[in-house]
Amino acid sequence: MTDKETAILTIAKQAEAAGGRAYLVGGCVRDKLMGKLPKDHDIEVHGIAPDALLEILKGIGEPLSFGESFGIYSLKGLDLDIAMPRREHAIGRGHRDFEVEVDPFIGTEKAAMRRDFTINALMEDILTGEIIDHFGGRQDLQEGIIRHVNDVSFKEDPLRVFRGAQFAARFGFKVSPDTVEICKGMATSELSSERVEGELQKAMLGSDTPSVFFEVLREMDQLEPWFREMKALIGIEQDPVFHPEGDVWNHTMEVLDRGAKLRDEADEPYAFLLLCLTHDLGKITTTTFEKGRIHAYGHESEGLPIAETFMNRLVGSKAVKEYVLGMIPSHMKPNMVAYSHSKVKNTNKMFDEVSSPKDLILFSVADRPVMAGDFKFQGDRDFLEGRLKIYQNTMSEPYVMGRDLIESGLDPGEDFKEILDYAHKLRLAGIPKAEALKQVLSYAKKLRTNKR
Ligand code: CTP
Repeated sequence: MTDKETAILTIAKQAEAAGGRAYLVGGCVRDKLMGKLPKDHDIEVHGIAPDALLEILKGIGEPLSFGESFGIYSLKGLDLDIAMPRREHAIGRGHRDFEVEVDPFIGTEKAAMRRDFTINALMEDILTGEIIDHFGGRQDLQEGIIRHVNDVSFKEDPLRVFRGAQFAARFGFKVSPDTVEICKGMATSELSSERVEGELQKAMLGSDTPSVFFEVLREMDQLEPWFREMKALIGIEQDPVFHPEGDVWNHTMEVLDRGAKLRDEADEPYAFLLLCLTHDLGKITTTTFEKGRIHAYGHESEGLPIAETFMNRLVGSKAVKEYVLGMIPSHMKPNMVAYSHSKVKNTNKMFDEVSSPKDLILFSVADRPVMAGDFKFQGDRDFLEGRLKIYQNTMSEPYVMGRDLIESGLDPGEDFKEILDYAHKLRLAGIPKAEALKQVLSYAKKLRTNKR
């Protein structure tokens, strides 16, 4: 038995000895019934006073009392939260604005009623293993349904809109129509971006089909305000020859799901999927009809400010934002260079412009054009990976640095950056260092003579 299992059993036995009862609650009961390994455990102790619970916990380890006023404790070193049953009433519109009333004698049904979904309202009696299921959670688990527990208490926490979408995406479940209805009226604008991004991350990293998260939010009419840029993709038409899947929304959802299959290979899985989500935002402003065809010229650069606005609203990590914004302008290049079998110089330049060349190739696989008619190109991962090896080899060769130029007698004047840029160009073209040094010095000489 692990330390955690011992602690859980001891709490249950001592709670029983004191006249109470301890239950596993929430996600861990659901995960176990789904045959998954729970990531953490929550215990709810009924029928004893908070002081008595604290005494029990002190006898087992070091209780951390971060949420003492809410009747929540954790034991140091164990992934274990121990709580007393409580009622919660919303007193504001934010996720944390709650008045909490601890009541050890409220009973299991009322205690479970404050939970979001029936599958999350299951309880397991620790000593007997009996599952306590007041709201049909087991049936919903079997049928794959996300259903809210209670009309009144559900609405008190708007984060549950995103939780519902996220669980549907992760588990491949459907959201019950009355839960979709109730979510339609919930105001999510006051939520903190951290909380909303937390649910987005769970969908992006924990689902094989993250599109479900967005499709559910669309059905709930909850893409605004947090995902309003995605909403704007609905109805933006694309050339049916290249995109028989329909509008840019459909395309984005397909790229996202293909991206999820490649996620584990990516250097930055979350940022990679955000790239899949945002790569075509430029089509919102650039799509035009010309001579009977649909074009979106320049969408790869026009999309940058739109993607930036979206990420500034939601994404906390600067590195993630930089990755995505750095990749969007290059997102079309891999399939273009592969189609035309471009020169090495061009593929080297393409890889050099992004933070993760490997993820750019993966993106091109996720974004590969769906072909129609006589246009047969299906993307070419082998070609791109071959070129990535060449790029990596090229970059591992010795190259002309600033100090080489100074040692060769060149003054580092105000045009030095321009000269170094030229040296970098030669590096990407695979020119050996000795030859490149000659060419750079000659370039510098010409540059300075012309300026005189
Ligand atoms: N819960 C809730 N409403 C919320 C957040 C949580 O009712 N807004 C309840 C649910 O019963 C949930 C439990 O608290 O099962 C634990 O929440 P959390 O740890 O966020 O999620 P899990 O359900 O454990 O799921 P996972 O961690 O796998 O996402």
